[in-house]
Amino acid sequence: MPARRRGPAATSSISEEPVIVPSPISEEPVIVPSKLPEIASVSAVFFALFFYLLFKHYKIEHDLKRSILINLGLSFAGFIITLILIPVASRYVLRRNLFGYDINKKGTPQGLIKVPESLGIVIGVVFLVVAIVFQYFNLTQDSNWLVEYNAALASICFMILLGFIDDVLDVPWRMKLMLPSIAALPLLMAYAGHTTIIIPKPLIPYVGLEILDLGGIYKLYMFLLAVFCTNSINIHAGINGLEVGQTAVIASAIMIHNVMQIGASSDPEYKQAHAFSIYLAQPLLTTSLGLLCFNWYPSSVFVGDTYTYFAGMSMAVIGILGHFSETLLIFFLPQVLNFLASCPQLFGFINCPRHRLPRFDPETGLLTGTRDGTLVNIFLRLFGRCTEKQLCIRLLGFQALCCVFCFGLRHFLAGWYK
Ligand code: UD1
Ligand code: MG
Repeated sequence: MPARRRGPAATSSISEEPVIVPSPISEEPVIVPSKLPEIASVSAVFFALFFYLLFKHYKIEHDLKRSILINLGLSFAGFIITLILIPVASRYVLRRNLFGYDINKKGTPQGLIKVPESLGIVIGVVFLVVAIVFQYFNLTQDSNWLVEYNAALASICFMILLGFIDDVLDVPWRMKLMLPSIAALPLLMAYAGHTTIIIPKPLIPYVGLEILDLGGIYKLYMFLLAVFCTNSINIHAGINGLEVGQTAVIASAIMIHNVMQIGASSDPEYKQAHAFSIYLAQPLLTTSLGLLCFNWYPSSVFVGDTYTYFAGMSMAVIGILGHFSETLLIFFLPQVLNFLASCPQLFGFINCPRHRLPRFDPETGLLTGTRDGTLVNIFLRLFGRCTEKQLCIRLLGFQALCCVFCFGLRHFLAGWYK
């Protein structure tokens, strides 16, 4: 297997000048889930709200609740297995020279540590095992959902493979944009569900229809959504904990949205679509939380494109098969803004360096925004210099705020919009 190294010289976005690469220190970094207490306490607050909605607030039928709980039990096992496997896998990836240097620590002793890369491969595999085993326990009699469920898993699995190939081979970034379109194929080819959209009420007089069948165009829409979700997570990155943190926030919002929709509806097919989405969102959240215990500031592992692509594709299929892609796109508001700010560099109007990260000052430990068009830099320019951890918390806070905004919007537009 070709080895991949990422040194500070190769990754600097600050200067085009050659930089002397300091020799990395030889001891292996210590890999422990050191952020477990913080992650567990924040997650406990979320799960308390989730259980309140599931058991108290809504009347959900027993069988559906049982399936959700079995899935949650398996997902929790996935969390524990992730915690055990990541330190083991870290040693293996380091042995094969799959590591990166932490760019936002450059100039400090931490910047010389080889941080194991691509640990997304561990949680991708654990997620797939949980999702596959769960089929055995799902109590739904209708087996039609199995076709789409397995097609979704095939797309996610294909995406993990291509993400890992990218991490190992360092695919040129314009080619990277194409990888999700290949991975989306299993889902696109097997999809036999709705191709209709409900026209928003204020637009019905203009369109003349309440429901519009998009036919093949719907598959094009699914394809574009998968390509967008995967790449938008991947380019909103580069700060310890941001890749996994944004996924955890969105997956939590998806779970709350699903349980609210199941609770408020009496249509079995609609409930099934949202249950389907919970069955994938739960293992995505728990395995991501396991990874976050190692990836939160200061990261002792990096997640790699394996993770960003896996997470993006998982959320895309969750939104497509749960039939709430518009809501998903509002949860993705920071990623949409980051994409819009990135367009001039992505489409080649302005020079796009290999890394579009802030400038780190080793003296003060603060980050300063550069002119690269990313939300990370925009936040630093708007709200001033801060530490990497503070910046990550601000960005995740903004992500959570966008999710709350989405719930508010849905609440106020209910009945008027659809
Ligand atoms: C995308 C972004 C790039 C950003 C990079 C960071 C675009 C077009 N590309 O590239 O601007 O710099 O993600 O992930 O917007 N790293 C850190 N700290 C972290 C996470 C990553 O220093 O918390 C560095 C490490 O050196 C790591 C490398 O980023 O090895 C991973 O980069 P990679 O995921 O390969 O970058 P891209 O996805 O190609
Ligand atoms: Mg990446």
